[in-house]
Amino acid sequence: MEFMRILLSILVLIFHGNTGVLSEAGVLVLDYYKEACPLVEEIVRRNVEIAVLRDPRMAASLLRLHFHDCFVMGCDASILLDTFGDMISEKQAGPNLNSVRGFGVIDNIKHLVEEACPYTVSCADILAIVARDAVVLRGGPRWEVWLGRKDSLKASFDGANQFIPAPNSSLETLIANFKQQGLDTGDLVTLSGSHTMGKARCVSFRQRIYEKSTEENFDYYKRYTTFRRILRSICPESGRDDALGALDFKTPTRFDNLYFHNIIEGKGLLQSDNVLVREDLEGEIREQVRAYASDQQLFFASYVNSIVKMGNINVLTGNEGEVRKNCRFVNP
Ligand code: HEM
Ligand SMILES: *[C@@H]1O[C@H](CO)[C@@H](O)[C@H](O)[C@H]1NC(C)=O
Repeated sequence: MEFMRILLSILVLIFHGNTGVLSEAGVLVLDYYKEACPLVEEIVRRNVEIAVLRDPRMAASLLRLHFHDCFVMGCDASILLDTFGDMISEKQAGPNLNSVRGFGVIDNIKHLVEEACPYTVSCADILAIVARDAVVLRGGPRWEVWLGRKDSLKASFDGANQFIPAPNSSLETLIANFKQQGLDTGDLVTLSGSHTMGKARCVSFRQRIYEKSTEENFDYYKRYTTFRRILRSICPESGRDDALGALDFKTPTRFDNLYFHNIIEGKGLLQSDNVLVREDLEGEIREQVRAYASDQQLFFASYVNSIVKMGNINVLTGNEGEVRKNCRFVNP
């Protein structure tokens, strides 16, 4: 096995940037399950489709699961582990608690995949394929998913609290947060475009709609606009913590570039959305936002690039980790 890893690394060096056979990180491959589980992508696609028909918001929720997985110890399905013994589940961490959803859908898909090809397809790879299919179903771009991730043997509750960015983050914090994951400012702007679909709870945007803009800290999105008034009617200053607001009020269920129109108008739902177009910032970030707002194909092409990059974060491969039988527990 070690020999194969080394051989693979050499091949990566030879083919790097040349062929589409091996990915940037050099460890994941396309067609990883071609022989061992040729039906996996079909099984996933059909079941994501069914889940989204049943619950339209599920497309957004499933995409977010892949993100919250990758930002904590890498894309290793650590988010799917339930609390066991003295290991606390990441599901209990602040950014996930009462917020992330879709675990039942993943369980169902994993169950069907295990029937077709036992102990073969990792939960981490399922999350990556599911995320792609969720985006496609909502009208977003399609990409080939690099595969071969293994599942972690543990979860990191502390990691989930530390590495998943908060909705009231400043731009500097967001940039630093993404940088820790090997993602650059361009990836931050592009991947924030994921907020083109789905919902957030009142607790996630309350600060953004009640905080006042000060003289030193003048923010366009904090002006008392009709938009803020509408959000305040959904989300009172106290109570109704779980009331939902659409992340993209223009086309809440479609994966398109209107998120970027919204934030240019100061109508992003979260503070972390609006800070991307902060008044005092000229230059690259604002240019990028404007470019995506005026060219959806450009946004889509960048999105594919950035999400593939995200899907490569600290992946376990080869003998590392395992292929879990049940995504909620490590194998006995
Ligand atoms: C840039 C930093 C980010 C911050 C601060 C952030 C924060 C949040 C918050 C607070 C929510 C609402 C959670 C709730 O109220 O229950 C949310 C929802 C969502 N986020 Fe992010 N997010 C970020 C980046 C991303 C990325 C990179 C992706 C995908 C690759 C993503 C995908 C989503 C989706 C699809 C939803 C809606 C989920 C649903 O409706 O169930 N976010 N995000
Ligand atoms: C962000 O929200 C958290 C939790 O509500 C709060 O403790 C923290 O002070 C806020 N941070 C900023 C920068 O406003």
